[in-house]
Amino acid sequence: MTSTNAGAAHASEVVAVEAERRWAIVVVLIVAVLIAMMVFTSLHWASMPPSRVETIDPRKLHISGEFVENNLGTTLEPDGKVMVRLIAQQYSFEPQCLVVPAGVPVTFRATSTDAIHGFVVDRTNANVMLIPGFIATFTATFDKPGERLMPCHEYCGTGHQAMWGRVQVMAADEFLAKAKGGARLNCVSR
Ligand code: CUA
Repeated sequence: MTSTNAGAAHASEVVAVEAERRWAIVVVLIVAVLIAMMVFTSLHWASMPPSRVETIDPRKLHISGEFVENNLGTTLEPDGKVMVRLIAQQYSFEPQCLVVPAGVPVTFRATSTDAIHGFVVDRTNANVMLIPGFIATFTATFDKPGERLMPCHEYCGTGHQAMWGRVQVMAADEFLAKAKGGARLNCVSR
């Protein structure tokens, strides 16, 4: 009798150990797939870690500094770099339509005036959160001319789904001709 009980206990232990081993393998596989996805997206989409921390007072954005209204948009900086400055607010981007050259690295500087917004440009590695009080900086290159969508991808309130803008990618020489005089370019129709 005793020996039969001991045998049964032993058999169930074998089943338990087997089940545990199977689940351990499943967990290891899930972790491996997640790490492989991270490596793939970092290399393939050129995902970047968050930029260094740079702060700004969101209450004074429109009064002074680089995010005043007439400084927003795309400029050709004196050093030849292309710079886009924009702000996000409930529920729009300013400017609503960005102009960028194709095939040239474009540096974005952006922030939010109110809630946390998201900034993403389809088919590019431009994908960042815009947080009040912080300046997001990143660089993206647009491969060919055309129009891209730029939706807010972070839930920011009741108007979130209506918050999106456009990016107009133009040929580099066409862009340079327009930007030469130091103008702040955008493609918002007036
Ligand atoms: Cu802004 Cu969602």
